[in-house]
Amino acid sequence: MTITAMTEAKTETLPPSTEPPPDDPEQGVAGDAIVLPEFKEQKTDLGGKTVGNIKSENPFMVAENVNVYYGDNHAIQNVSLEIGTKEVIALIGPSGCGKSTFLRCLNRMNDTIETARVTGRITLDGKDIHRKEQDPVALRARVGMVFQKPNPFPKSIYDNVAYGPRIHGLVADRAELDQVVHTGLERAGLLAEVKDRLDEPGTSLSGGQQQRLCIARTIAVNPEVILMDEPCSALDPIATARIEDLIDELCEDYAIVIVTHSMQQAARVSRRVAYFHLGLLVEVDETDTIFTNPRHKLTEDYITGRFG
Ligand SMILES: Nc1ncnc2c1ncn2[C@@H]1O[C@H](COP(=O)(O)OP(=O)(O)O)[C@@H](O)[C@H]1O
Ligand SMILES: [Mg+2]
Repeated sequence: MTITAMTEAKTETLPPSTEPPPDDPEQGVAGDAIVLPEFKEQKTDLGGKTVGNIKSENPFMVAENVNVYYGDNHAIQNVSLEIGTKEVIALIGPSGCGKSTFLRCLNRMNDTIETARVTGRITLDGKDIHRKEQDPVALRARVGMVFQKPNPFPKSIYDNVAYGPRIHGLVADRAELDQVVHTGLERAGLLAEVKDRLDEPGTSLSGGQQQRLCIARTIAVNPEVILMDEPCSALDPIATARIEDLIDELCEDYAIVIVTHSMQQAARVSRRVAYFHLGLLVEVDETDTIFTNPRHKLTEDYITGRFG
């Protein structure tokens, strides 16, 4: 579905926006800078205030009552969300609402930020990712991450992809490593472009190719979940379209959690959408529902471009 189609659908189903009457109890007191309107519905048992449906048919990662603090800044507040097996879920919301922070909870990347403190429970395939025996490096192989800015290692194309399988001891010999590197590059849609230049530095590739190299590096260690934090924001439209096509293919094998500031992208690639606002998970639902019939006013305001 296109944004135009969604906007048209919205115009038909939603009344025109009007200023709330001054005594409307659902609205903040006039003049207050940030007063969240009351949530209209409380449909979930895990999520407290989140409206819509935080549950997934086939949950693979489950976050329950997750809070993140950076010192005194309560950046994620009591967020619960299920991520399904082989599902693409998009995290959207205004800048600073906590999308990246929440994403980093899922593979414990916040552990690397000194001021960050995470509470709550997160499970991967039923097991607590914070349990004592869980090695965070091993977790990050199962829950891989692709960043906003392509960040190939200062190594050859081959060694970028070979790095993970080598450090995790996934291959017995060079022939097997060659195979893993080729498969990773092929699955990332990059092999045809680089097969004759595997010894060249990863940084010699174009931005879009570098991002696909980072995806190849991530999938070379057989992850089960791939986290993507605005993976296309540094790319041109053609490179973006290639990554989006790739997401469509990869979700046959992996769950993908993608942060995006592009609602068009969320509409194109995801099956579910989670809308964050000021550290709260406001609404989660099927992508079509979020874009055509959001339940919460904050979601509606964001997707219709009233703020963001
Ligand atoms: N490494 C960090 N150290 C301290 N505060 C941070 C850090 N990263 C994010 N924050 C704060 O957490 C809040 C959420 O930020 P972030 O998760 O980056 O939002 P988003 O990805 O939605 O733009 C913001 O108030 C931001 O300033
Ligand atoms: Mg971010």
